[in-house]
Amino acid sequence: MKEVGILSQKLTLTDQRQSLLGFAEPKVDPLLQHSIREQLKALTTEKLTDCQRRANLCESMNLVVATLLQQETAKHEVLTKIFQELYEHALQSMAKADISQQNLTHEYLSPTGYVMSPLNGRTTIKDIYRLHRFIRGIDKAITARLKNDTVIRILYPACGPFAPLLLPLIQYYRSHNLATEQQIQITLVDVQPGAIQAVTQLVSDLSIQGFIENIVEADATLYEPEQTFDLLILEAMQHGFTKEGQLSIAKHLIQFLSVDGVLIPQQISVQAMMVHGENEFNQQWKESAFSHSTNLDREVVQDRVELGEIFQISKSSLLALEEVILPSKIKMVRANRISLPTGIEDMKDRVLAIYATLNVYSNEFIREYDSGITHPKPDMTFYVDTPPRTPQPEHFLTFSGGDVQFYYQLTGLPGFVALQAD
Ligand SMILES: C[S@@+](CC[C@H](N)C(=O)[O-])C[C@H]1O[C@@H](n2cnc3c(N)ncnc32)[C@H](O)[C@@H]1O
Repeated sequence: MKEVGILSQKLTLTDQRQSLLGFAEPKVDPLLQHSIREQLKALTTEKLTDCQRRANLCESMNLVVATLLQQETAKHEVLTKIFQELYEHALQSMAKADISQQNLTHEYLSPTGYVMSPLNGRTTIKDIYRLHRFIRGIDKAITARLKNDTVIRILYPACGPFAPLLLPLIQYYRSHNLATEQQIQITLVDVQPGAIQAVTQLVSDLSIQGFIENIVEADATLYEPEQTFDLLILEAMQHGFTKEGQLSIAKHLIQFLSVDGVLIPQQISVQAMMVHGENEFNQQWKESAFSHSTNLDREVVQDRVELGEIFQISKSSLLALEEVILPSKIKMVRANRISLPTGIEDMKDRVLAIYATLNVYSNEFIREYDSGITHPKPDMTFYVDTPPRTPQPEHFLTFSGGDVQFYYQLTGLPGFVALQAD
């Protein structure tokens, strides 16, 4: 989320646009090698027994979950510290999984989206405010189901190397005798062999094998389970609701959710706004210790021109989703139509920014800037009122007072496409 600093006001040169578009691109981080080596060294030099290592892991997980469940808000410094400790213990577990270099670093574009390497996926466990709301929301969802159901089956596709939205909670339940393995049965799915190795190691380190019905290495957009599930937990998205295959995975797996089953997040709402890039992404955060919706600058928020919701994903919207197949065989889904307001004199100086907000479950929300996944994403191809100086095929020009219809492309690079509405 620190990358906001490189954004500046709407620029005109194509190369500047491209460099801006590249922001927040995940990069292979040579530090992991260093970090894993450090962890391994710690294991040997400190003569930490396997038993101690696992006890430390469970303890740090319990501390994080207890803090998140018991406190609606906790001090950012406290959260940062306990999440960092959890991350380091999780890394020790990952190191123990002995994943090959190839399986650790391999990442690629599948036909339905970017597939992150376990190396880059490891840090999602310390996306504090994402975990905060998911852990609280999933706890509420499980507790509500267990009032009526003797057993609940949970499907968690694209779980990544640590399945961090669920496994910490299960470990907490186990160690506090809050739920039994007869009550909760989980299927974890990931397409990356390295993620499967890491999550299998973690399950073993936490001694929660009894809660795990299945760990499946599969493409979640093709996976055909033989049963239905009561909860479907899915978070495979990046900022601006682009790049990763959240929609394709959800669209396929929703058929395996029982009639009264719950999708988590219950609702993802994707919003569009026209902003002054420098104020929105840079100036606003100059004085803040961290980016979060509670730290938004009131003046900057008032200066935004909100265009409204361009897409909404929920169980009911997924079941009703209709695909449009282009002659090139590219699959699209129709999103919302918005009207551009009139009377905004500086519209041509503004940039389109797209952001998601998540209603995880009940009253647990992840709002803009709370997490990397809800960080607004500037779209430097969208021009209002003034054409680009050097038009490119991907540029889209529209005018104040006009209507724009958004579509969403279900390709290896998922994302929004704007079209002038009739
Ligand atoms: C950023 S991680 C998300 C991890 C986890 N959901 C979390 O909340 O931290 C992305 C993971 O999704 C997996 N993934 C992406 N597309 C997938 C697909 N089509 N089928 C299965 N796994 C997929 C990747 O392999 C990677 O491990």
